[in-house]
Amino acid sequence: MVAKIKRAVIPVAGIGTRMLPATKAIPKELLPVYDRPIIEHVVREAISGGVTEIIFVTRSGKEAIENHFDAHYELEHRLEKKGKEMILGTVRNVVPASIKISSVRQNDALGLGHAVLCAKHLLNNESFAVLLPDVLVLDHESRDSNYSFTQLVKAWDETGVGQVMVERVNPGVVESYGIANLGDVALKPFKSVALKGLVEKPSPDQAPSNLAVLGRYVLPSKTLDLLENTVAGVGGEIQLTDALVKLLDTDGLNALETDAEIHDCGNKQGFLSANLAVGMRDPESNLAIKKLFKSNGW
Ligand code: G1P
Repeated sequence: MVAKIKRAVIPVAGIGTRMLPATKAIPKELLPVYDRPIIEHVVREAISGGVTEIIFVTRSGKEAIENHFDAHYELEHRLEKKGKEMILGTVRNVVPASIKISSVRQNDALGLGHAVLCAKHLLNNESFAVLLPDVLVLDHESRDSNYSFTQLVKAWDETGVGQVMVERVNPGVVESYGIANLGDVALKPFKSVALKGLVEKPSPDQAPSNLAVLGRYVLPSKTLDLLENTVAGVGGEIQLTDALVKLLDTDGLNALETDAEIHDCGNKQGFLSANLAVGMRDPESNLAIKKLFKSNGW
């Protein structure tokens, strides 16, 4: 029986260069996607997969992220006095009280692999999830929300093999991602398939496919031991992908394709599209957005 995933590591130490100047004083993870900060969408996604403990890997200057998930007595008191019960509910119950939030500092920007390794002492030698908060995974409205992540966790529960979520990207942008090699195996959405290889940010002519790792992982604790022995790779950073290549050789690693809409909120266009896509799901805003487009002839 495979142990259930209890913890998720969410690296939030990035400086948000692609979103400057918006992120000069505000952590990029707190920029709102429609009605709540992007980080809240991602934390909810983790919780929907059964995670009960969130570990932020953070740095100085980003304390506001932790504050968002903490109580704010003065604000709560004022809202209470004004009888604003609805708003009070959203401020108070950002996540259920049973969810533990902790954080650990990454005091040097040495890469995603290093960020995950910073959480090692909090992971208790147990399997864990990693969710990258730049990425918003918006599942089809016909499915349960966060269907993709719950399927990733389910695939882990059924196999005990590490899982990475992948999506098809334009072959011209493979250089921005970890790219999966599946050999001749045909992938179809939500079928977990054994990987043959994984490569971090290959050039388009070296890429084994256009299946990109999109920042959702469920991994065995062994990954942390492998990370400890992983040297700097692409970009001079300790890459999670390089440790996963070693894991693949010894224990195997699976890919699970999603058919969800993927929005990279770490850049301006992706951030805008995420806001529109989430806003369009609210009936009132849907009408307002359509009206705006129509009246401007967009
Ligand atoms: C990281 C990972 C990469 C993955 C990407 C998804 O890269 O290293 O494998 O495809 O996230 O967003 P980064 O975007 O941090 O350069």
